[in-house]
Amino acid sequence: MTEARGRASALVTGASRGIGLGIAEMLARRGTALTITARDEERLADVSGHLRELGAPEVVPVAGDLADPALPDVLGKRHAEAFGDLGCLVLNAGVGTAAPIGDLPEARLDKTLAVNLRAPVLLLQRLLPLLRAADRARVVVLSSISGVYAEPGLAAYGATKAALNSLVETLNAEESGNGVSATAIAPRLRRHRHVGLDPRPHPTRRDDPGERLGHARGGAGVAERPVGGAPDTDHPRWDVGLRSLNSSEGRREPCGAT
Ligand SMILES: NC(=O)c1ccc[n+]([C@@H]2O[C@H](COP(=O)([O-])OP(=O)(O)OC[C@H]3O[C@@H](n4cnc5c(N)ncnc54)[C@H](OP(=O)(O)O)[C@@H]3O)[C@@H](O)[C@H]2O)c1
Repeated sequence: MTEARGRASALVTGASRGIGLGIAEMLARRGTALTITARDEERLADVSGHLRELGAPEVVPVAGDLADPALPDVLGKRHAEAFGDLGCLVLNAGVGTAAPIGDLPEARLDKTLAVNLRAPVLLLQRLLPLLRAADRARVVVLSSISGVYAEPGLAAYGATKAALNSLVETLNAEESGNGVSATAIAPRLRRHRHVGLDPRPHPTRRDDPGERLGHARGGAGVAERPVGGAPDTDHPRWDVGLRSLNSSEGRREPCGAT
């Protein structure tokens, strides 16, 4: 048990870079104690130090692969030991998979389902008691515009993201009475600005839809453009997501300090 117990706490998956790192940085600046996870242990340790410098009173790094169904239980135990309850759960980690339905390798389908869908469900199962124990807890899920609008070549990825949108609706129906509410954020494809830590572009990975769609990763600034069938205007879900992260509405900040 630590000094940070009783303070606002959050758990962010995929917090070592990209959107997850940006959210973890925002939470750290608000003084939120954090549990963070990703596979790369060394980078996670660097990120932990960085988040403490930004203001997180305590950061618990837990390295592991979310394709492993045992990891959610480990994460739940480590977070409960450190902080007791959980004010904000950010289900951000996800893998991109680009292939036409006819050519989609079964192993890739399994991995996409495991990381993008099974892991969030298992994490919710493990963490709901901690969320219910917090004061008006919030779950933020990184979906994708591909889960709202079909895009050629993104069937498996888009299907997992559509399932996450549904999961969020069901979670709200089941848990709002217990003080737990959820929001899905559905971004379009975007480049990341790597804030604070490492200004070098992250190497583009073979399974990254950004690469398949001709996007280069990294570099300064944030650029975004629609892909496939996505419209060129902001989708309402995107607005809803941003509002839920940024607005306090006169009460306890979702995912942040009181
Ligand atoms: N960026 C976009 O344009 C965009 C658009 C729409 C939706 N999204 C969604 O937003 C979320 C974040 O995207 P991003 O672009 O910021 O991703 P990213 O830069 O590729 O970062 C992914 C994060 O998740 C971790 N991760 C990946 N696979 C993992 C696994 N099997 N187990 C545990 N951790 C894992 C990564 O660290 P390790 O590699 O060390 O594990 C990293 O911290 C994803 O769910 C993505 O689908 C992104």
